[in-house]
Amino acid sequence: GLKKKEVHVLCLGLDNSGKTTIINKLKPANAQTQDIVPTIGFSIEKFKTSSLSFTVFDMSGQGRYRNLWEHYYKEGQAIIFVIDSSDKLRMVVAKEELETLLNHADIMHRRIPILFFANKMDLRDSLSSVKVSQLLCLENIKDKPWHICASDGLKGEGLQEGVDWLQDQIQ
Ligand code: GTP
Ligand code: MG
Repeated sequence: GLKKKEVHVLCLGLDNSGKTTIINKLKPANAQTQDIVPTIGFSIEKFKTSSLSFTVFDMSGQGRYRNLWEHYYKEGQAIIFVIDSSDKLRMVVAKEELETLLNHADIMHRRIPILFFANKMDLRDSLSSVKVSQLLCLENIKDKPWHICASDGLKGEGLQEGVDWLQDQIQ
């Protein structure tokens, strides 16, 4: 059949935000795992959409591994940045990590699309995607296309909308 265009995606965000859960849900049902554990270092995952074949660098968000992220920025053609919408205490940490990312030499001057998932929308005390967007000051991102979706990584809700947007940005 037709060979799909290959795209390298970086999946970033704080530990426990739901990165691995979301990437797992994007894989075909028979490739999904049941038990998800905190990522050590990073893990390379693959999933396909109608026209693209994604290779995802699912990075650990733990503080001690965050310095690994930057080594993969050069080859990243898109970013999925996941936020735990219920983790109000660490929203400022997420904002700082996002700023560090955006100010990195390998990211700064590139028109690289960034998809944000305001994840864990199922939790009663989670913030709306609009609120998360305000707290992270996303409107200040002027030189890159970005989009934010509320998501539930466990049920998979909101993921398709996000991935459809990402696919549109890449074609
Ligand atoms: P690191 O690999 O440590 O960086 O974490 P991660 O961002 O990959 O998070 P992971 O996918 O391991 O999920 C962390 C926890 O959040 C797990 O217990 C998941 O089941 C849970 N979780 C993920 N997404 C959701 C969600 O949308 N809602 C709820 N309620 N829990 C979620
Ligand atoms: Mg993980």
